[in-house]
Amino acid sequence: MNMQIAERESVAMSSQSAGQPVVRNDEANHDLSIRVRDLNLWYGQTQALKNISIDIFQKNVTALIGPSGCGKSTFLRCLNRMNDLIRGVRIEGLVEMDGRDVNESRMDEVALRRRVGMVFQKPNPFPKSIYENVAYAPRMHDLVSRKAEQDELVEKALRDAGLWNEVKDKLHQPGTSLSGGQQQRLCIARAIAVQPDVILMDEPTSALDPISTATIEDLMDKLKKQFTIITVTHNMQQAARVADYTAFFHLGELIEYNDTKTMFSNPHTKKAEDYITGRYG
Ligand SMILES: Nc1ncnc2c1ncn2[C@@H]1O[C@H](COP(=O)(O)OP(=O)(O)OP(=O)(O)O)[C@@H](O)[C@H]1O
Ligand SMILES: [Mg+2]
Repeated sequence: MNMQIAERESVAMSSQSAGQPVVRNDEANHDLSIRVRDLNLWYGQTQALKNISIDIFQKNVTALIGPSGCGKSTFLRCLNRMNDLIRGVRIEGLVEMDGRDVNESRMDEVALRRRVGMVFQKPNPFPKSIYENVAYAPRMHDLVSRKAEQDELVEKALRDAGLWNEVKDKLHQPGTSLSGGQQQRLCIARAIAVQPDVILMDEPTSALDPISTATIEDLMDKLKKQFTIITVTHNMQQAARVADYTAFFHLGELIEYNDTKTMFSNPHTKKAEDYITGRYG
């Protein structure tokens, strides 16, 4: 380790010992979206998340990076309680939105998942029409009553997802008839149709070609004006391009959290530097 990094690392570590909040809001003064403190998660006997403390800022893109198995997907799922669906999971610590712990027993999980939507690695449209893929959840949540209102909402979500022009003449064809990149934008339209606060994206472009990937990256940049986006990527260029903040995970720990520019130009930890520069796979 060279001296400069050693020095920076010791500064980073002394200001952020294990379990201390990891807060990076020095310059920007963004509003807080999700506050996580001392989050621990076990799958049976195996601990997958260790003392994670992080502030996620509203209407920004936060990228989660780190080697395979370091806990990125597990962490994302903690934010809308999707780990509840996995047997043998034990969670400790705080995940707070609007002053409420999402894990408290009174929390309505359906309402939570409306506020914190998710887009997965593999596009997974429902086996229904393009229209129904978008209209279904708003109807279930009673966000629309009249048909005209529903049509309007479907159009808006598809426009915001950058898909309207490609599908407006075939809204009643199956969602699965679209290309992979279009299907992923349909899944984004479905996620935003219920007006969530936060959209979680777990490697949303890893199954897509470069052009579809660029389209989704552009879309993330537009969507962050309305939504808080937390995305996982193995593509360092993508994180550098789309994210305002980047969090580096390693073996279940949050090693470094920084604004993206600092993370990629002047990482404060040797582990993050090694990962970003490809010395660690
Ligand atoms: N359902 C599960 N049951 C048991 N262990 C699990 C489960 N899901 C994940 N794990 C374990 O938890 C750890 C973190 O996994 P996770 O999927 O969160 O990693 P990741 O960072 O998303 O990896 P990748 O980049 O490969 O997607 C791994 O050791 C994994 O084996
Ligand atoms: Mg994962």
